[in-house]
This record gives sequence, C-alpha cells and structure tokens, in this order.
Amino acid sequence: MEQYIIKGGEPLIGDVEISGAKNAALAIVAAAIMTDEKVVIDNLPDVRDINVLLQAIEGIGANVVRKSANCVEIDSSTIHSVRVDYEYIKKIRASYYLLGALLGKFHRAEVALPGGCNIGSRPIDQHIKGFKALGADVDIEYGMIMTSADELIGSHIYMDVVSVGATINVMLAAALADGRTIIENAAKEPHVVDVANMLNSMGANIKGAGTDVIRIKGVSKLHSTEYSVIPDQIEAGTFMFAAAATKGNVLVKNVIPKHLEAITAKLLEIGCCIEEYDDAVRVIGTDNLKATQVKTLPYPGFPTDMQPQIAVTLAMSKGTSIVTESIFENRFKYVDELARMGADIKVEGNTAIITGVDRYMGAQISAPDLRAGAALVIAGLAAEGFTTIDDIVYIQRGYEKFEEKLSALGAHIEKISTEHEAQKFRLKVG
Ligand code: UD1
Repeated sequence: MEQYIIKGGEPLIGDVEISGAKNAALAIVAAAIMTDEKVVIDNLPDVRDINVLLQAIEGIGANVVRKSANCVEIDSSTIHSVRVDYEYIKKIRASYYLLGALLGKFHRAEVALPGGCNIGSRPIDQHIKGFKALGADVDIEYGMIMTSADELIGSHIYMDVVSVGATINVMLAAALADGRTIIENAAKEPHVVDVANMLNSMGANIKGAGTDVIRIKGVSKLHSTEYSVIPDQIEAGTFMFAAAATKGNVLVKNVIPKHLEAITAKLLEIGCCIEEYDDAVRVIGTDNLKATQVKTLPYPGFPTDMQPQIAVTLAMSKGTSIVTESIFENRFKYVDELARMGADIKVEGNTAIITGVDRYMGAQISAPDLRAGAALVIAGLAAEGFTTIDDIVYIQRGYEKFEEKLSALGAHIEKISTEHEAQKFRLKVG
C-alpha cells in the first residue's frame, strides 16, 4: 500500500503549473464517443479517474491513442457495445456520463451504477428525470442502469436541485435529440461551460451554459474536434490553500483567475495577499491567519470540493471559524484524522465549529476521500514533525504528480511503500 510521508514546517515557495480539470475532462472524454470521427483532447490530466474512463471506453471498442501524457486521440467508430460493466468504472462517479453520451449516440446504454467518493448519499434521480423527459426508459437492474429510447425528443426540464452531473448528462443526450431542450436551474460550474464548448466544437448547438438556463437545439450528428480542457479550479485552489497554510509564497500558473474568485475572496479574508495575473494567481501567506465563516454553495459560491482544504487552514487560524457544508452531508470525515494532529473541531450536523490552534503535530492518518485526502496533505505540510498518510489512492484519483509538484515548491514529501523507504526519508530530511 502506498503512503505519503511528509516532514512539515517548510513554507511552500515557487511556481506550480496547474493541470487540466478532472471533472471537465471526464465529461469531455464521454462526449468524445458521440461521433464516429476522431477527437483529440489536450490538457487532459493524467490521473486515475481519467485513465479508468479511457480504459472503459476502450472496453466497449473505442480506439484510444495516447499521443502524450496529457493528450489522447479517441476514435469511436469501432464501438461495438453499449454495456459498460468494466469492474473499475463503478469506482468513479462520472461513469454516469457514459449514460448520457451512449444514450444520445446509440439511443441505448447500460452502465454500472456509479461509485466515487463516499461523501454522502449521491442520488441520480435528476439524471434519470432528464433522460425520461427526453423520451427514454430508465431501469436499474442488478447494479446496472439501463436506458433506451426509440427516439430522443427535446424537452423542457426543470432540475429540482442544482446538479453538475445531471446538467451535463442531459446536455450530452440532448445534443443529439430531435428538437429543442431547455434545462432550467442548470449548474453554472466552469466545467459545464467547458463541456458545452467542446460539444459545440463538434457541431452541437448549445447556448446559455454558465447561466441557469441552457438551451440546446439537437443536431443529427457530431463531428471531429481538437479540444483543450480548462485548468483545474480545485487543484489550483488546493495549492493556494497549501501556500496559505504553510505561510508560503506560490505562483499558481495556468489558471483562469475568474474561476477562483470565491477561493481568493476567502484567502484575502483570512489575511493572505493575492496578486492576480492574466493566467496566474500568487498567494502570499502570513504568520497571522484569521478565522472566518464559509458556506459551500454551487458555483459561483465557495466549492464543496474546497471545503476540507479551507477547514484545514482555518483550524490553524486565530479565532473561531464556522464551516457549513450545504452540498454533501458526509463531508467532515477528515475531522477525526485532523484531531489526531491537534485540531480542535466540533461537528454539529452540516456545520464545523473550528477553534484555531497554534500548530499541528505530525501523526499517522488516512485519506477518507479525494479532496479530504489533499487537505490532510496540507495539514501534514504545515505540521511539526512527520506525518504519514494512508489510502493515498483517493488522492491519486484527482491530482496529477501531486508529490512532485509539492516537492518542487520545497515540500518534504515522498510516496513510499515500505517501512525501509520511510526510514530512508526520515534520515534524508533529518
Ligand atoms: C460533481 C463533482 C464533484 C463536486 C460536485 C459538486 C464530478 C465528477 N464531480 O459531482 O467533485 O463535489 O459536482 O460541485 O464532476 N443530487 C441529487 N440528485 C441528482 C444529482 C445530484 O439530489 O440526481 C444532489 C447531490 O446529492 C448533491 C447535489 O445535488 O447534494 C449536487 O450534486 P452534483 O452537482 O450532482 O454532484 P456530482 O455531479 O455528483
């Protein structure tokens, strides 16, 4: 089992290059199978979730050529099956995008029920409601979602909750439906816009992505494209909070600063300095981090995927902070781990009441999910002494070369598999 070992206490200093957005890329890979022509996807993050999805589409016959670590060419003219029961696919949440993509293209899809991070019950009723509104039958049998339609007809769909996944999934299927679809109460996240742009570059007719009403005029077929995925807002935010928590000075490069506004606003509130450039943001930490209040909300609010990272930082900021999680109900599982490092956090329902402590102390901890895992790495970087983190497989789902990027900023962090390697690391960093 791989672990991270960290010796904390070094401020992160230097530049870091952000990879493509995992959550946009997952939907974009799914969208690529909706044409028989070749699709080239660039700035694709080389992370486990993406690689599992690529293997899954190869499993149903697509031809995937890796042109480089971050660029693939996908030829889907050879797809011979609409059944995706590849054993790993259920481990990634976004396996559900294959439903929308296959339903749109072949009017039929059978995909294993999605898994992903265990951060609360994650229903897919809005996805199903959307597919049904387009005229599809949807059944769940033996852990598979089966959907089919004689024809897909555009429809007017009101989403009962703001859902990134349901918005994108319905957009995928509706791109190839007959007639017009209107999605109301749509999610406005940057990756919804990125997927719409990608589909439009394939000949789709989607307007309004980024607002809460998306209008889609179905087309009969999609064509080839070359598309570059937007930068990962959450990876960028993770490095920004890592800079703050270690009182460092980091230039976070290859980002769209507008997508980071909710994150930069909170960093300013807690006392950091921010310098914004066209495609980069510098975060300069301070010895006097201050408490604040934050509530997670759909975009443009503060992202739930950044909740653990800000909480870890607030737990070493002066005063009492309140963090309210309004998207997923089970997203404070890292709190027990953090308590072992000295944090003082009380969770009541969907609220964490955080009393700042002066410092963390290194401990042996486990990553409970992807973003909480990254947040615990931040805690380890800020802590006195050594921290080892188990279950880093979660972190590898979504962060490309995480330990390499952190090491380049001066962090003492290594991926290890044996006690011997741990001892070597301890001797090396002293
Ligand atoms: C996506 C992201 C995830 C992020 C989340 C919210 C991917 C692969 N994952 O997840 O990292 O944390 O957006 O920004 O892009 N809901 C329903 N019914 C549905 C769908 C969702 O009730 O059919 C609820 C969920 O339980 C949750 C809320 O809606 O409370 C938002 O979920 P959603 O935006 O769909 O999250 P995901 O797309 O799963």
